[in-house]
Amino acid sequence: MNRTIANIIIDIIAAFLFLGMIATGYILRFPLPPGSNKTLSLWGYTRHQWGDVHFWISLGLLVVLVVHLVLHWNWIVTVIGKRCHLLKTAHPSLVRSGILTGGIVVLSIALFAWTAQNSVKEIARPMRGKHRVAHTDQVDGSSVAAKQGSTGQQSVGFWKDVYPIFESNCLSCHGPQKQLANFRVDRSEDFFGSNGRDPLILPKQSSISPLIAIVSGTRKDMPMADIHKLSDRDVALLKAWIDLGAETDD
Ligand code: HEC
Repeated sequence: MNRTIANIIIDIIAAFLFLGMIATGYILRFPLPPGSNKTLSLWGYTRHQWGDVHFWISLGLLVVLVVHLVLHWNWIVTVIGKRCHLLKTAHPSLVRSGILTGGIVVLSIALFAWTAQNSVKEIARPMRGKHRVAHTDQVDGSSVAAKQGSTGQQSVGFWKDVYPIFESNCLSCHGPQKQLANFRVDRSEDFFGSNGRDPLILPKQSSISPLIAIVSGTRKDMPMADIHKLSDRDVALLKAWIDLGAETDD
């Protein structure tokens, strides 16, 4: 291949990679800002995945820049050797094409920024943050005891402690594959009374929360009552979480 053509191809690739760096950098700064990894996605990718894309593009750019330097080695040596003296007069058509190019670049960037900003979607993981508990100001005496917790823990995090229980014991029948009783454990509304159903959880009131009756085996009048029974430890953890306010974002 001709040297000049190789140079041009390399420069075009470099330009595209550079634009990719700016674009992904922009995505990581504005449409998907730090801390949004669990809640937002853009074109099917989360912040974390865009970070990976950004990284690989930057690596590619580095490689291309090295190749570029190698291809221009002669030129670099000559210029440094002779000391450069550029004295080109401005050509009218040069100014015009400069303005045109600048315009197209600015327009593309603006278009990209606009599209990205408008394509950000909330991830369908509503348990996080969506459900602010309604009755948090009803504090009864038991909540103080619950702080210490029957599990001996100072605090119970939903994602850390509670969701894993549902995930391993309930998700197979009440999740993405099956939605028995039209109930899903990965959908927070379902615990707090959606579809006109009575709430399964009454924040800070574990003793009268229907969920606890189901998972502790107190309630017998339902299909597969045994399957719904959890270990004492898990029940205690759920109770503690409910009595602390049943927050779904930790
Ligand atoms: C092996 C399958 C299976 C597993 C695992 C399972 N369930 Fe169920 N669940 C059912 C069936 C079957 C019903 C009754 C469906 C119906 O009535 O149409 C049901 C009903 C329910 C209901 C609705 C009760 C009502 O009043 O109608 C809730 C709430 C529920 N399950 C919660 C859970 C929880 C929480 C877990 C995990 C601890 C769990 N389930 C695990 C099969 C399962």
